[in-house]
Formats: sequence, structure tokens, C-alpha cells
Amino acid sequence: MTLTSADIDGMVGAALSAISSATDLDQLKEVRIEHVGDRSPIAKANQSLGQMDPSARAEFGKIVGKAKGAIVATFEARQVELEAERDARVLIEERVDVSITANRTPKGGLHPLTILTNEICDLFLGLGYRIAEGPELEAEWLNFDSLNIPADHPARTMQDTFFIEPLESHLVLRTHTSPVQMRTMLEEKPPIYVICPGRTYRADELDATHTPVFSQVEGLVIDRNITMADLKGTLDYFARSIFGPDVKTRLRPSFFPFTEPSAEVDFFFNGRWVEWGGCGMVNPKVLRAAGIDPEEFSGFAFGMGLERTLMVRHGITDMHDIVEGDIRFTQNFGSGLR
Ligand code: DAH
Repeated sequence: MTLTSADIDGMVGAALSAISSATDLDQLKEVRIEHVGDRSPIAKANQSLGQMDPSARAEFGKIVGKAKGAIVATFEARQVELEAERDARVLIEERVDVSITANRTPKGGLHPLTILTNEICDLFLGLGYRIAEGPELEAEWLNFDSLNIPADHPARTMQDTFFIEPLESHLVLRTHTSPVQMRTMLEEKPPIYVICPGRTYRADELDATHTPVFSQVEGLVIDRNITMADLKGTLDYFARSIFGPDVKTRLRPSFFPFTEPSAEVDFFFNGRWVEWGGCGMVNPKVLRAAGIDPEEFSGFAFGMGLERTLMVRHGITDMHDIVEGDIRFTQNFGSGLR
């Protein structure tokens, strides 16, 4: 088949109209295969030059070359155009607004009292203690009688203790964590090394320094040859871990029915002595009530309030801040999550 220059014009026309009707780069790719690439009519026309009579080849070669050049130039121009369109579209469609507020759910955090409790538990776990817990609704006998607190003791009046109705149930909201001492001694044989954090209740009004629902931590050690020096050393270590390496402690003689001798423990912090809690050597009467032979074993116990510990350590002046759980307050202590 011999090609004429009209055929070539036809090829150019078909190619140019296909190029201009391609509206995106995918369509243009098809157009390339059909009208520009090696198998396109114009490429074949170019290849057929070789079989042509040399006299006609020069002239027809020029026609084909021009036609091919026109097709390629138009194609390339369209390609540049469509690429620019695509780039502009992608810039809009895939735009990231870095100023938009991230829709992230904020992580919660632990209450500062929980953070302090964890800190204390970790510290005593490190000394080989076990954590012991007891119920907040406690038998009156465990909360008072077993700890040598007699029925006529002032702490047992209605003004101090939440009794549970009916009164014959002999249940109270525990007024301290000390009943956990007795529970532990009844369940376990010495040696006993326990730390008992927990919530406690007393019929107080909520004010800047009191709250009817508060927290204590109790320590109890029963072993052979335990002396008051062990108690003092343990309290020193405890205080230094909580308030810093320079803190000092002192014991002041005091009275608690379940310890003999008994003491109040104070610590010296930011230039003043602060009352921390009670402590002493476990009263032999209490050991006997728990079925432990006071001739063989002795022990110490201590108990302190966590709210006060937290307030002094962080300079908190109002108990309401601790009780209310406003995150503007609690956030200052970090999340406490590990
Ligand atoms: N339970 C006492 C209170 O709430 C504190 C206390 C004093 C605990 C002496 C003890 C202790 O373990 O030995 O006031």
C-alpha cells in the first residue's frame, strides 16, 4: 500500500484531535499508544520509508518527519498542560491544614492521692513488705475491741464514728486502717511485713483541714527481736523517700491503746516540725488477741494520714482541692501513669 500525503494529513488530524480530547493523563497515555508510539500509523509510515523508491523517499520523508514532529510537539504540550492541572488539583485535594486542632481524646491521669499511695507501696515493696488491704465497712470488733480500744473510749462515740444501722450489725465505716493489722495477724503467722493503704471515715465536717472521707497508710512488722530502733529507722527511710534526703523525724511519747510504748512521729520539713502520725511497739495484749506469743515475737506499727502528707509535701493549704478532683488542680501532679 502506498501512502499519500493526504494519508499523512489524516494521521496528523486524527492524532491532534485525540490529543486535544484527552482530559487527563490516563487518557493521554492511551492516545500515546495509538497515535504517537512505535505502533502508531505515523511511526509505521516512518518505518515504511525504507521500502520506498529512493527518488520519492526524500520528499515524502520530509512530509512524514514534519507530521511526526507536529504530533510529538502537540502531545508534549498537552502532557505538560495535563500534568500542571493534576499538580494543582493534588495540592488542593491533599492539602493538610496544620492549624486544625487535633481531635484527640486527652489521656486521663491518676489522682494525686493515688500517685502518693503507689509511691509509698513501691517504696515498701522494695523493702520486702507485702501490701495488705481490708474492707472499708468493718466489724466494730476489728476496728476497736481487738485493738484494745475499750467500749467507753471517746473515739467510739457517735460524734466520731459512722455506725451502720441496724446497730446490732456491729459494723462501722472503719475509722482507721489499723484493723488491717489485726486481720493480717489473724490470717498469717510471723514474720509479717505489711503496708496497708486505704480509705477511712470519721464524722467530721469538710473544711480546709478536715474531710470525713480520708486516707491512711498503716505499717506493721512482727518478727523476732524487733525493737523501737527498727521502727525509727523505718520511719526515717519512709520520710526521706517521701520528703527528700534531708528530712528528719522525731518520736514524741504518746498513747495509743494498741501500742506500748506509743509515740507520735513528726518530721522536720521546710523549717518546721509537722505531726505525721502515730506509732509504737505492738501491744502484747493485741498480739495475744491475734494468737501470737509476745514472748517469742515483737513488732512495731505506724499509721499516718495521706492527705496531710500530700498537703505538706506540696504546700496545699485547702483540703477542698484534694477532695474535689478538679483537673486544673490534679493535672499539676502529672498523670502518674507508668
Ligand atoms: N490508728 C491511729 C489513728 O488513726 C494511728 C496509729 C497510731 C496507727 C499508732 C498505728 C499506731 O499503727 O501504731 O489515729
